[in-house]
Amino acid sequence: MSNYHIKHLEEYYQVYRKSIREPENFWAEIAEEHFLWRKKWDKVLEWDFTKPAIKWFQGAQLNITENCIDRHLGTRANKTAILFEPNNPDEPAQHITYKQLSERVNQFANVLKEQGVKKGDRVCIYVPMIPELAIATLACARIGAIHSVVFAGFSAAALFSRINDSDCKIVITSDGSFRGKKSIDLKGIVDEALEDCAGVKTVLVVKRINSDIHMKEGRDQWLQPLLDKASKECVAETMEAEDPLFILYTSGSTGKPKGMVHTTAGYMVYSAYTFKNAFQYQENDVYWCTADIGWITGHSYIVYGPLANGATTVLFEGVPSYPDFGRFWEIIQKHKVTQFYTAPTAIRALAKHGTELVDQYDLSTLKVLGSVGEPINEEAWHWYNDTIGKKKSPIIDTWWQTETGGIMITPIPYVTPTKPTYATLPFIGVQPALMDENGQELKGNQVEGRLCIKFPWPSMARTIWGNHQRYKETYFSAYENMYFTGDGALRDEVGYYRITGRVDDVIIVSGHNLGTAPIEDAINEHPAVAESAIVGFPHDIKGSALYGYVTLKDIGESRDHNNLRKEINQLITDRIGPIAKLDKIQFSEGLPKTRSGKIMRRILRKIASNEMDNLGDISTLLNPEVVENIIENKL
Ligand code: WT7
Repeated sequence: MSNYHIKHLEEYYQVYRKSIREPENFWAEIAEEHFLWRKKWDKVLEWDFTKPAIKWFQGAQLNITENCIDRHLGTRANKTAILFEPNNPDEPAQHITYKQLSERVNQFANVLKEQGVKKGDRVCIYVPMIPELAIATLACARIGAIHSVVFAGFSAAALFSRINDSDCKIVITSDGSFRGKKSIDLKGIVDEALEDCAGVKTVLVVKRINSDIHMKEGRDQWLQPLLDKASKECVAETMEAEDPLFILYTSGSTGKPKGMVHTTAGYMVYSAYTFKNAFQYQENDVYWCTADIGWITGHSYIVYGPLANGATTVLFEGVPSYPDFGRFWEIIQKHKVTQFYTAPTAIRALAKHGTELVDQYDLSTLKVLGSVGEPINEEAWHWYNDTIGKKKSPIIDTWWQTETGGIMITPIPYVTPTKPTYATLPFIGVQPALMDENGQELKGNQVEGRLCIKFPWPSMARTIWGNHQRYKETYFSAYENMYFTGDGALRDEVGYYRITGRVDDVIIVSGHNLGTAPIEDAINEHPAVAESAIVGFPHDIKGSALYGYVTLKDIGESRDHNNLRKEINQLITDRIGPIAKLDKIQFSEGLPKTRSGKIMRRILRKIASNEMDNLGDISTLLNPEVVENIIENKL
């Protein structure tokens, strides 16, 4: 029996029990047998959730790129590491072998060094889904620089706050990006973001769309000529196990995004091990995750996890709807994809277009179908299972978070029997707990509560960049000695978990995690707006969509409401990005508040979801009269 690759249900239970009873021995074995270390650890785990302080593999030294690239060069030099599928289907795909990846990462790493980037420096990567995004990420890891990848759909203001928060010295971007029929001026967004970032001295620009952009003298440089001059050899920096590997921002309950810090050894071990098992990855598979590398899904399951296993990972630049809604299925056929990992929102959007487009393509290579980012509803689950998987490819509904670094609850395909809408069983080493409102753990099955994790796992985020206190408050203060996820969940009669959704002020729209506070902050910047509150409501495709309640100042009263709505959505687009735009904006005389002045989002959420008969007691509100008025004018 190999603990590294679980093949039967009994084996799962056996390995799971071992991972809980002897976590240190268990993870030491996995780490020892399947990874390359410059120096082994002195101690497997040290932890204290009250501080919180978590250290895995202390004393070990390594470089993650040697594990993801160099160690494969002996046996897999000519195997495709990254299979790039461009936005335009007429543009040929690129097969980047492990050998080529090694050379390109080393060249990029040498360019960064030449630009003065050193171990521990933060590098902002704002690049679309092209090979250079993965290469830049790995190049940072090669030299020990901390990468901060910012999703290339974020606005200039969002980019600015992320560059500024972690004090990045250098930004890597491109002249633009292709998305479906559109091309986007990324460099223009970077220029705008950098107007207020004096700390950024260098911008490296990848040429992708050949647009005529402005290059700022002394700051901006085209990347290619620098790469051409750079050596293809670059000795990897020696990293300590707990040295930060990257920062990735996620939204929270205040306006400021949280820079989650992931470190090197534990993240590597867990992302690789989960990849192997959750996708039942085999040597000649062609694995495709449709996420963007700008999200954690892309970090762990496009770049690090697959490459650490020597896999072929598809990197797709485009969108599911271009040139038509058959694009995903065409790519699966074309590259003989074996594992396909996407989000419920994409599944719902594609299901709307029926089976005709699907039937045109041969999907028989598929073995595993993954889902991530939000709960998958029953209908979408069945469509995915029947129409795409032809009832023979198990669906893995993988629950996890930016903060967890890797998959936490998931069926193991061909091992764990699936159940529609259930993420099923905890992954090896993961100890979930459901808590009630009074902070008591709900033991046994058939219970529902707030989802916590009671023991550290190797890839958990270690802190929030520059704000350890916020890390403690957000994740370790709700329940004693527990990591609190922010999600609700239930455990059924056999111990399967079903995630019921967020229990905090985060709303998941099309799989994107959006905090209400930053959106409200953006709206409140409008001169006519007095106050606002955002809630989610059910939406066919997006899962949840945003409903905004806005009260106006006197100067707003006479304004045309449709114009105001446009202006508000424009502000949101500018401050955060188009993903955060509101579907509905209702202007109301007031917002329901508690006597201490807190907006009662719970009531607004119910109204937006048409659950008017279920509002609960509103008599204790400061202003119960506004509720009726809001209901009457509901959109
Ligand atoms: C939140 C984390 C890590 C993947 C991308 C999202 C929700 C994620 C599932 C799932 C139900 C899910 C949770 C979680 N979520 N996967 N399979 N079923 N909900 O990462 O942006 O950090 O968001 O996404 O609410 O807390 P993220």
